[in-house]
Amino acid sequence: MRIYPILRPLIFRLDAERAHHMTIAALNLMPKRPPAFPGSLTTSIAGLGFPSPVGLAAGFDKDAEVAEAMLGLGFGFVEVGTLTPLPQAGNERPRLFRLTDDRGVINRLGFNNRGQADALQRLAGRDRSRGIVGVNIGANKDSPDRIADYVAGVRRMSAVADYLTINISSPNTPGLRQLQDEGALRALLAAVQEARTAGGAPRSESESVPRTASPPIFLKVAPDLGEGEPDQIARVAIQHNVDAIIVANTTVSRPHLSSRHGGEAGGLSGEPLRPLALDALRRFRAASGGGIPLIAAGGIGSVDDAWARIRAGASLVQLYTALVYEGPGIARRIATGLAHKLTEHGFASISEAVGSET
Ligand SMILES: Cc1cc2nc3c(=O)[nH]c(=O)nc-3n(C[C@H](O)[C@H](O)[C@H](O)COP(=O)(O)O)c2cc1C
Repeated sequence: MRIYPILRPLIFRLDAERAHHMTIAALNLMPKRPPAFPGSLTTSIAGLGFPSPVGLAAGFDKDAEVAEAMLGLGFGFVEVGTLTPLPQAGNERPRLFRLTDDRGVINRLGFNNRGQADALQRLAGRDRSRGIVGVNIGANKDSPDRIADYVAGVRRMSAVADYLTINISSPNTPGLRQLQDEGALRALLAAVQEARTAGGAPRSESESVPRTASPPIFLKVAPDLGEGEPDQIARVAIQHNVDAIIVANTTVSRPHLSSRHGGEAGGLSGEPLRPLALDALRRFRAASGGGIPLIAAGGIGSVDDAWARIRAGASLVQLYTALVYEGPGIARRIATGLAHKLTEHGFASISEAVGSET
C-alpha cells in the first residue's frame, strides 16, 4: 500500500520549508541499503556506472545530510548541494511555495547552505560503494570573484564527489546566470579544468590515476535560453571537456498558473516547467548531435516523462518537485516502468534508447 497519499494532506498543512526540514530529519532514520535494479537500467556515462538512470536533482539535500537514505529509497544517483564555499543564510522567508493546483513549486531560497567544509566532513565519512553522489557547487552571493568560488569548490569537494556539477543557472543569486554567456563561460570552464588537473589527475585514456581523484564535471544550465544559446553553450562545454550537461534548472518564465502563489518571484519547477525543459533538452540534443551526454531535469514525474526525455536524448534523468507530490516511492516506480518500456520497445539498455525519437 502507498502511504504517501495519506500523509500528503498532513504534510501540506505545514509551511513548505518546515515540512522539508521534517522530511530530512525523518529520512535520517531510514534504512540505507540501495535496492537491486534490473540490469537493463545500468547506464555508463563519464566513466561512472549508474545502476538506474533516475536521480535526485540538486536542492533537496543541500547540505548532504541524507544522500545515502535517498539512494536507499531507490534513486540511481543523488546530487547534493548547491554548496557554496562559505555558509550562507539565503533569502528572507517565506521563500518556498507549493503551487498545489499546478503541481509545481516556486523557490527563491538563494543558496541557503551550511557551506562546503561542513558537507565535506559528512561526505568523507560515507561508504562510497553504496552509490553515486554528485556534488553541486555554486558561488556565494557576496563573493567578489565568482569564478574563484567555483575553483575553490572544485579543489575542496573533488575528493568526496563522484561527479561535480557547476551550477550557473540558479535564478536566485543575482547575475549568476550571466556566467552562461560565452566569454564568461569560457573563463569559468578553463579555470575549473585547471583546478581539476592541478589536483594531480591527468585525464588521458592511458592514465592510471583513478578517476575519483578528479571527478567528472557536469554543467547545469537554465531552461530560459535565447535563440542560439544552446549551440553556443554546448560548443564551449565540449571544447572545455565538460563531461555532461544538465538541462535544466528552474525557470523564471511564468506559463499560465492557477495557484495562489503563482505570482511569487523565484524559480518555477514541476509540471509547469515540463514542456519548457523538454524543449530545452531537444535544443541541446540538436546542438550537440550526441557529442556530449545530456541529463534531463524539469517536471519529470512519471515513467512517460522519463521515457520521453531519454528518447529526446537524455542519458539520465533527475527530479525533485515530483517527490513533493508523489512521495519517495517515485524513483523506484519510474525505474521499474523504464525497464518495462525498454522491453516493450525492444531495447536491451537505456543507452540504446537515448535519442531514439529522431
Ligand atoms: C526547492 C528547490 C530548491 C532547489 N535548489 C537547487 C539548488 O540548490 N541547486 C540547483 O542546481 N538546483 C536547485 N533546484 C532545481 C532542481 O535541481 C531542478 O533542476 C528543478 O527543480 C527542475 O526539476 P523538477 O521539476 O523535477 O523539480 C531546486 C529546486 C527546488 C524546487
